Amino acid sequence: MSELISIENLSFRYVDTDFYSLNNVNLKINKGDFVLLCGPSGCGKTTLLRAINGLIPNYYQGEYKGKVIIENKEVSKHKTYEIAKIAGLVFQDPENQLFTSSVEKEIAFGLENLAIPRDEMRRIVNETIRVLNLENLRYKVPAFLSGGEQQKVAIAAIYAMRPKVLLLDEPLSNLDPYSAISVIELIYKLNKELGLTILIAEHRLDWLIPFSNRIVIMNEGRILIEGETRSILEKFDLEQFDVNDPKIPTLAKRINKIFNLRIKISLTVDEFVDNFKKELNDRI
Ligand SMILES: Nc1ncnc2c1ncn2[C@@H]1O[C@H](COP(=O)(O)OP(=O)(O)OP(=O)(O)O)[C@@H](O)[C@H]1O
Ligand SMILES: [Mg+2]
Repeated sequence: MSELISIENLSFRYVDTDFYSLNNVNLKINKGDFVLLCGPSGCGKTTLLRAINGLIPNYYQGEYKGKVIIENKEVSKHKTYEIAKIAGLVFQDPENQLFTSSVEKEIAFGLENLAIPRDEMRRIVNETIRVLNLENLRYKVPAFLSGGEQQKVAIAAIYAMRPKVLLLDEPLSNLDPYSAISVIELIYKLNKELGLTILIAEHRLDWLIPFSNRIVIMNEGRILIEGETRSILEKFDLEQFDVNDPKIPTLAKRINKIFNLRIKISLTVDEFVDNFKKELNDRI
């Protein structure tokens, strides 16, 4: 797998603070990864996303050490819009990133800023609406959409710029479970079918672990552990890192312990049932 993002010895202290919000962070992200970034409130997730898409150090000032490299570009040496074309950031609260009077205008908005010719723009907007199944929202006013629809439009507006990586900062926080699942399905489609690399900061591990191939856990500006999703869940109880243990892997571990079984690590209910059956069959 080829490398898309390389973060090397990155430390960052916001102006007027006396501590580092990022503390010697090292991380590599490959093309096609779906990375789940977690850790307790204030550990530096948002700050790390800002450092990847160039808001740090271009917009948020402070003391900056180390480097972030995306597709051979050193982030701190390029203008924000140049990096934003490669790494788009979706925020927690979609209302704050919707500006226009219709969904199709919203999707065109970022492209206008990139000075893309009209015909080409129309083609990209149509394709984005079609691929992401947003036809029914095309002429609606973004401000009047439901939270889940707004989040999808915010994601579509970024996807229209054809970035390589989509950074999402707690995109599910304000959504009910039903809308959250349809937003997750959209994000998964971008990853699996359209080839985007995903880095998503989120507290709701239960919803996302089945889709992620890597987990990164932070605390106090540092990366505590990171690795392949299943092997992290196999090796660690995440509670020790002040992260909610996802329920299904935890259930398997508890049952294994009580009944002295070896049910394989499972990320979904179906997988758990299959692995449970296998383990019982092996024993009979
Ligand atoms: N603009 C800013 N100026 C000064 N300090 C900041 C700024 N933004 C964040 N911080 C501080 O940096 C640290 C990391 O904050 P950050 O927002 O990155 O955490 P987080 O992991 O995203 O938390 P949450 O889960 O609550 O969103 C915190 O101590 C926070 O107070
Ligand atoms: Mg945050």
